[in-house]
Amino acid sequence: MNLVREAPLPGASFGATLRQGGTAHAVVAAAERDPAALPAALAEAGGLLLIPGMNAIADEADLLVRLSRVFGPEVEDYRHTLTDLKSVHPSVPEILLVSNMPPVAKAPPKRPDPPLAADGLIPTQYPHRRGWHTDQSYRRPPPDISLFYAVTPSAPGSGQTLFANGTLAYDALPAGLKARVEGLEGLHAQPGTGRSREAALSGAKPRAFAVHERSQRQPVVRPHPMTGGRALYLCEGARWTGSKGRSWGWSRVRTARARRCSTRSWRT
Ligand SMILES: [Fe+2]
Repeated sequence: MNLVREAPLPGASFGATLRQGGTAHAVVAAAERDPAALPAALAEAGGLLLIPGMNAIADEADLLVRLSRVFGPEVEDYRHTLTDLKSVHPSVPEILLVSNMPPVAKAPPKRPDPPLAADGLIPTQYPHRRGWHTDQSYRRPPPDISLFYAVTPSAPGSGQTLFANGTLAYDALPAGLKARVEGLEGLHAQPGTGRSREAALSGAKPRAFAVHERSQRQPVVRPHPMTGGRALYLCEGARWTGSKGRSWGWSRVRTARARRCSTRSWRT
């Protein structure tokens, strides 16, 4: 592929913008011709790529699925994942819809309080910022990559979607904390199963899991399958029960499930 890579993303310490100079059709066709290029670019960018000019996906949603398959052979059909069918794309069921408009009508999370941090920027640190998570980490196996296409972007200053780099987060840990998390595993539980932080603090006994809800054991520190870099793999709040009694959380838009790369979120 003939790509111009601009990295990192403006104002960030990781991520990259890829400019291919063509339409979404051209980007997808080029990625299919050279299937190692985009996964390598994703890994090199620390797990976050922005590809502008993909507007044709709005009318031809299958382009997003074709692009997903470049990252791995297994792209899930959401009709078979116990997903609420209102959130499944009506003609391309490999796409999950996330929207505050009908029929999905998913309410946005509460805004941070106060909405800005002391430095005037969007808050990113727990507990001021809640909800950092790794997408669907409770699945067996969990997804490795998420592809997002914004059909109707929210207005500037609202609807913030934040990304964090688990490798940089691990690197930033003090040596003592790195030693403490080494070998630690967590049980990642699906939301709605009574394993939230609030439920744990209340002392309520969690109900038994249904067969499809059983929690998934994951190491807190995972090596990246392409770069070998060590990354934190965990979620904040509500949906993750740590093996040492702590809790954290999960996800949303996901079209690709591959084995080679990973994007992940982390509280900073
Ligand atoms: Fe997510």
